[in-house]
Amino acid sequence: MKAVQINERGGELTLVNKEIPEPKENEVQIKIQACGICHGDAVTKEGYYQGAIAYPRVPGHEVIGIVSKVGSKIELWKVGQRVGVGWHAGHCMKCKACMKGDFWACEHTMTTGISTDGGYAEYMVARNEAIVSIPEELDSVEAAPLLCAGTTTLGALRNHGIKGGELVAIHGLGGLGHLALQYAVKLGFKTVVLSRGKEKEALAYKLGAHVYMDTTILDAAKELKKLGGARAIICTAPNGSEIGKLIGGLGKDGQIIIIAAATDMMQIPPAALLGGNRSITGWVGGNMEETLNFSILTKVIPMVEVFPLEKAAEAFQKMMSAKVHFRAVLKMTN
Ligand SMILES: NC(=O)c1ccc[n+]([C@@H]2O[C@H](COP(=O)([O-])OP(=O)(O)OC[C@H]3O[C@@H](n4cnc5c(N)ncnc54)[C@H](OP(=O)(O)O)[C@@H]3O)[C@@H](O)[C@H]2O)c1
Ligand SMILES: [Zn+2]
Repeated sequence: MKAVQINERGGELTLVNKEIPEPKENEVQIKIQACGICHGDAVTKEGYYQGAIAYPRVPGHEVIGIVSKVGSKIELWKVGQRVGVGWHAGHCMKCKACMKGDFWACEHTMTTGISTDGGYAEYMVARNEAIVSIPEELDSVEAAPLLCAGTTTLGALRNHGIKGGELVAIHGLGGLGHLALQYAVKLGFKTVVLSRGKEKEALAYKLGAHVYMDTTILDAAKELKKLGGARAIICTAPNGSEIGKLIGGLGKDGQIIIIAAATDMMQIPPAALLGGNRSITGWVGGNMEETLNFSILTKVIPMVEVFPLEKAAEAFQKMMSAKVHFRAVLKMTN
């Protein structure tokens, strides 16, 4: 099969021919139709993950495809069924955390495209518990970004007690940001987009934004304050120092909700959190089934740019320079 892999830490995305992986007893083999390119794939490329990444590694954790083989212990999944795989590649199912259903706390938790080969390929294998069924209403290319970008942003918006009518700002209008924007509007929040420049303004309004702020010319914190202060700022732009500057834009009980895997420092005077009980929190992952169903119900469809597998490196570079409107998706032709 054709696959695009990274051969060493910091290496390039390289097109190779390799053996089609065979499923173990608790795995299925998937013939891949589409895979989204998430900024999180930079973790595989640059190797900055807790624990060493074993190279070569095929990235990609927004995968849709058809089950082409099943392992001997698989009962749930059938050959021919359309399925998806997200960031979470499985867990040990044996430790205390797994027994309690707290899979994120499993010390042996696995990540697609990091611990195991992912979706920049014609085939992959995935563990039984990591797979979701894809409803027929969804197109494969459009469904792919829902499995990480969609799941994460909907999870962040639904799990912080934000009420309809409250002010929510979305920082960064990329793969995650454009879904966060659409979900926030559907959930009834007054939605402000914070993006660098004018380039994405018209598209932001088309996707339902109530207010657009160009952070290169406006002090976003001051402008949010003028609107009464944000109940939440969903931070998808991977820039710690820019996130830090937004704290003054929070209103009463306002929360900075960090989704972006920014690694630079953010500087915040602690007193800025007082008077209004403001807080800073992080959010990871979410529920794939709920996200697929909510997206069908509310007709939230990712806006995608489609690339063939062979152009994965070009698509990745375009994503890294924030030029994609709004999610690059690899479409397999075989
Ligand atoms: N927590 C989780 O579970 C989770 C899940 C998925 C992804 N992530 C992380 O979330 C972040 C966003 O992922 P994505 O796939 O949406 O990325 P993306 O498509 O590249 O979008 C990120 C957006 O942030 C802005 N941006 C990029 N670089 C910036 C910089 N240096 N300074 C300021 N703004 C910048 C750009 O928006 P504008 O052009 O509008 O300014 C860009 O479109 C990444 O850090 C990713 O690793 C976390
Ligand atoms: Zn992702």
